[in-house]
Amino acid sequence: MLSNQAADPAKRTSLHGHWSSRMAFILAVTGSAVGLGNIWKFPYIAGQNGGGAFVLVYLLCVFLVGMPVMMSEVLIGRRGRRNPVATMALLGQEEGSSPNWKWLGGVGVLAGILILSYYSVVAGWTVAYVFKSASGVFAGAQAEQVSAQFGGFVGDWRLVGFSHTLFMGLTTFVVARGVERGLEQAVRFMVPALMVLLFVLLGFSISSGHFGEGLAFMFTPDFSKLTWDSVLAAMGQAFFTLSIGMGAIMAYGAYLPEETSITGASGSVVVADTSIAILAGLVIFPLVFANGLDPADGPGLVFDTLPLAFGQMAGGVFFSTLFFILLSFAAWTSAIGLMEPAVAWLVEHQFRTRAQAAVMVGGLIWLLGFGSVLSFNVLSDFKFYKGTIFDNVDHLTSNVMLPLGGMFIAIFAGWVMCRNSTADELGSSGTLYKIWRILARFVAPVAILFIFLKAIGLLPDLS
Ligand code: TRP
Repeated sequence: MLSNQAADPAKRTSLHGHWSSRMAFILAVTGSAVGLGNIWKFPYIAGQNGGGAFVLVYLLCVFLVGMPVMMSEVLIGRRGRRNPVATMALLGQEEGSSPNWKWLGGVGVLAGILILSYYSVVAGWTVAYVFKSASGVFAGAQAEQVSAQFGGFVGDWRLVGFSHTLFMGLTTFVVARGVERGLEQAVRFMVPALMVLLFVLLGFSISSGHFGEGLAFMFTPDFSKLTWDSVLAAMGQAFFTLSIGMGAIMAYGAYLPEETSITGASGSVVVADTSIAILAGLVIFPLVFANGLDPADGPGLVFDTLPLAFGQMAGGVFFSTLFFILLSFAAWTSAIGLMEPAVAWLVEHQFRTRAQAAVMVGGLIWLLGFGSVLSFNVLSDFKFYKGTIFDNVDHLTSNVMLPLGGMFIAIFAGWVMCRNSTADELGSSGTLYKIWRILARFVAPVAILFIFLKAIGLLPDLS
């Protein structure tokens, strides 16, 4: 069907062009990785799961499971050079397995759609907080007033629905026009600026007098607080924050030039992403303790704490507005990555134009998003399994679809693809390749399956 299925993977080209440089790829992947996952989700999930021990498991998962899965995604993407569904079908066949591996790509497309349906809702909150910050409501505010602002906002489904609509509209618009150029520029500015502001906030947190308490909460592991559910949540968070397990990184890898080092590029992204999450935690937990808030506050944690810091800071209105603008940008570059697999698939398979595909996918996600919009107000008492609709979509995607997707990606790269193919992509000589292969073949799949089965109670305790 596609004309450029060259037999030699090195000669394949992508239908959508290539990144202009190694840096462009790193910027795009960083843009997709750094987002609400680092600043909104990491602190609130760490807080709900008791801090230290959770953070330790998260870090182990990032480096021992996340990193090899990310490298596998990039190498698969670059070898196949098309959307994740077609790439999996092509490589499955080429490596002597089956084109049915395309279903793995298909599940990824679905995961992206589901994640974005609630991601866009929270991104809408950050957009709304740009305007709240600029209006000065947080200047000098106390903890109760800041919490009341958040409660009042999410309690009104029209406000939340409107900001979700606005955010999804903007995302769809950019994806429809084809994104790569503008994205590079946005990320080049946004990520460093976000880090600078986090350091400003860190200075404030250090001076809050409760920095030690925050530090202890994050880095003193208390394993008695760790359930298998928390371990699964930590692993899910590692997948979520790195954007892996659903083919998004595979889609980006498809545009990566042949000569770029996959190990180096993945390493930079993982380190940048993890530092930003840890930094966000170091800012937020001291504020939590300084203001007598609960670390297990839930999805509102960031919105209940950061405005407090800004409210007491010189130039706080300006900094706060700027911060939420940057966070909205960070969410937006991630949202684009979440939509890309579905749109690329529609364009290549159904012969839609990019604009038609973007509007179809964007519209579907917008509609699904109302399940999460209503989870904080009208339907907040409608709970099943893990909680509200929002809680369940989050659990299903982060803790089930992404880890299992990642497991199959690692199995595909480690077991289905022959050594020559992966060595060809990663550079065969070094110890790094050997380490990757052990992690991808054994450590990642076994750890994922074990944690998953433990958390759903299918493996009995040995003791
Ligand atoms: N990593 C993003 C964040 O931390 C969220 C995300 C998960 C994502 N999967 C993705 C973004 C896939 C782009 C593509 O906010």
